Amino acid sequence: MKYINIAIDGPAGAGKSSISKIVSKRLGFIYIDTGAMYRSVALFAIENGIDIKNETPKLISVLDSINIDMKYENDKQIILLNGRDVSDDIRKAEVSIGASDVAVIKEVRLKLVELQRKLASNNNVVMDGRDIGTYVLPDAQIKIYLTASVEDRAKRRYDEMVQKGMECDIEKVKLDIMYRDKNDSEREFAPLRKADDATVIDTSGNEFEESVELLYNFIKERL
Ligand code: DC
Repeated sequence: MKYINIAIDGPAGAGKSSISKIVSKRLGFIYIDTGAMYRSVALFAIENGIDIKNETPKLISVLDSINIDMKYENDKQIILLNGRDVSDDIRKAEVSIGASDVAVIKEVRLKLVELQRKLASNNNVVMDGRDIGTYVLPDAQIKIYLTASVEDRAKRRYDEMVQKGMECDIEKVKLDIMYRDKNDSEREFAPLRKADDATVIDTSGNEFEESVELLYNFIKERL
């Protein structure tokens, strides 16, 4: 393998994206948020009136018209859905649930995994998701399974949403996370699972900066 691939998996709200973003910048690697890709497909379905769970064949039939791209501006990852910047729109609560639902569909996964593997074969990457170490990049040199208690994850997600000025309720945030944990780990194809050769890092009770240092040092020691 010409490039270094680092796989970070774990349940919703474990801090994968925020930590990976900083760690990859410090390493000089490209950060790839695969959740953003599933979110973009969900946003497409929602905006086009496609009921993800009850109209799955319809969604599969329009997959070829969904073009997802990533670009980087001032260190910020911008996600483009058919050329439009949807980086903010994909963070809404209904899109989170929709993303977990589209992620069950094998055809959606195969399309996105192809893009993910292409990016990883041409760059040093930190890639986060649910199936990176187990399915997308089984040969990744470093694999981490990042987790935290459901209470901690709900609290962090809630604080993040409040900070962005989004309206939310902590109990609802917790229920959404529990729905996604179940959906993501019980699906048939490439479910959320710790790879046998991944190291578990539990960030429950940690301050954000502590978790960043923990991950960065863990990776640095192994590179
Ligand atoms: O990481 P996130 O919360 O942005 O991900 C949104 C949803 O996308 C998540 O609930 C499950 C799905 N997902 C997936 O199935 N596989 C990935 N590699 C990344 C995300």
